[in-house]
Amino acid sequence: MCGIVGYIGNNDVKEILLKGLEKMEYRGYDSAGIGIRDDKDVKVFKEKGRIADLRKKVDMSFDSTIGIGHTRWATHGVPEVVNAHPHQSSDGRFTIVHNGVIENFEQIKNEYLGDIELVSSTDSEIFVELISTFANEGLTTEVAFNKALKTVHGSFAVGLLDEADAEIIYVAKNKSPLLLGKGEGFNVITSDAMAMLQVTNEFIELMDGEVVLLKKDNIVIKDSEGSPVERDSFYTEIDESDTEKGTYDHFMLKEINDQPGTMRNIIQEYQDAEGSLKIDPAIIKQLKDADRLYVIAAGTSYHAGLIGKEYFEKWAGVPTEVHVASEFVYNTPMLSEHPLFIFISQSGETADSRAVLVEIKKLGHPALTVTNVPGSTLSRESDQTLTLHAGPEIAVASTKAYTAQIAVLSILAQVAARELGRNTDFDLMQELAKVTTAITAIIDDAPKIEQIVDEYLSTTRNAFFIGRTMDYYVGLEGALKLKEISYIQAEGFAGGELKHGTIALIEENTPVFALATQEKVNLNIRGNAQEVEARGAKVCTISMDGLDQDGDTYVIPPVHEMLTPLVSVVVYQLISYYAALHRGNDVDKPRNLAKSVTVE
Ligand code: F6R
Repeated sequence: MCGIVGYIGNNDVKEILLKGLEKMEYRGYDSAGIGIRDDKDVKVFKEKGRIADLRKKVDMSFDSTIGIGHTRWATHGVPEVVNAHPHQSSDGRFTIVHNGVIENFEQIKNEYLGDIELVSSTDSEIFVELISTFANEGLTTEVAFNKALKTVHGSFAVGLLDEADAEIIYVAKNKSPLLLGKGEGFNVITSDAMAMLQVTNEFIELMDGEVVLLKKDNIVIKDSEGSPVERDSFYTEIDESDTEKGTYDHFMLKEINDQPGTMRNIIQEYQDAEGSLKIDPAIIKQLKDADRLYVIAAGTSYHAGLIGKEYFEKWAGVPTEVHVASEFVYNTPMLSEHPLFIFISQSGETADSRAVLVEIKKLGHPALTVTNVPGSTLSRESDQTLTLHAGPEIAVASTKAYTAQIAVLSILAQVAARELGRNTDFDLMQELAKVTTAITAIIDDAPKIEQIVDEYLSTTRNAFFIGRTMDYYVGLEGALKLKEISYIQAEGFAGGELKHGTIALIEENTPVFALATQEKVNLNIRGNAQEVEARGAKVCTISMDGLDQDGDTYVIPPVHEMLTPLVSVVVYQLISYYAALHRGNDVDKPRNLAKSVTVE
């Protein structure tokens, strides 16, 4: 979603800002802009579409050493140049970039902005006009900025330039992510560490309610009362080369191919010197103290949570509920006496999940976050974090984060089972090693999977994914993957549910993907496949070696029955990838979507 960058220092800022915005393209956006100072005033360049289009518009003829930039994912107002950021106050003095949503923008407009003529349809323009209005009443910029921050309700991360002062970028945040970056003779702001790795890997976290005066050789952080805050910096472990796609055509394909490596990282990170599974004892204590687990997540991470529930209940014997974050927050179910909340989030920034975290913290409940980004908001605000060790995931469609989430949840559940004295009669690390080999075999089979796409998905407008038990959950993920990048309408169903309504949609040649990796329900799902075939569906059966039958379209290598989602999903990831590719879609940046969903 929206991304912010800003730089103040000695070097020309244009390339730094544009490169930073390019690094954030993966988050999803529909317009972009930068505001840079020449020796007199702040010049704004904006464009709809890609950063490459913005680049063509930027006047490269002058040097500038202070500037802010923004990628916008439309919330208030259509994706047009006029709504792109930065926005300037009507007197031209203040220039702002803003992420988030100002909930009381209508009220601010009526109460404070009188007859100021607004040019855009954004809440952000109201923000900058409010600062300008307060400054015009005689307040200093810092005081006007603070007063505006206290007047607006909602989520925001902002960077502000004042034409009257070439030495400062004013910065603040509430709910929306923003980092400060430190360098020799320069400092930066960024929504995403990856965008500024080009100049620094040293960052400082910023907390809600804090205000920052960012100068080129000094960073002043103040709390909401105006008192100075001291905070140590940290060095990010992300290597800039991890954020490049190398020889792959798309990040998604690279990330699918990264999965065996990610599995190996996880196996290494979560075992001790003796080769036993290892999880921080404080996390295991949280789990042992809980009478029920509440897994909270969105999208693909929610689908990983459904698999995690199986592990927590079947291995550790702890009752578990899995909830979609955006529903939970407004329709909280009855909670048990000693709940433990487990947030699953690749980015660690999903606003829907964070809204739940804020609420449950008010109630005093413990929280654990399972994320790919250790310094993220959900990670910081939870009591504990488990890291996915998957490396940056850039493609909007999540692949390696999903398998990493399942693998980490399986380890957590196994350690909990062991500590709760429950006997699980297999060596998980050995089984995960087999999974790694199986995933590699499927990736090597990519040309065969591409043929499946030619046969089943070349012209269709819809597709169904059926399965039972764990295979049903994988079907939900397969359908999400396919629809988000190929735009084929795809739905996942429990095999047994089809005849209760959905089967009415089956027509001649409707593609139905049936997954059969679970012995207990193997015959049942095959029965469901026959039901749709009898009504004209073109069934693609994907089974596991040992449970396969003549005529199955694809057979995955055998792995432990509880770990099959880690392997079967790779077939669906590749199917989705090729389906999108064959339709000429932008695989890594599907329409309307954002990687990091930072608004509720
Ligand atoms: C789909 C996808 C999304 C995310 C969802 C939650 O491929 O990536 O469904 O899973 O937006 O994001 P995180 O995991 O960052 O909380």
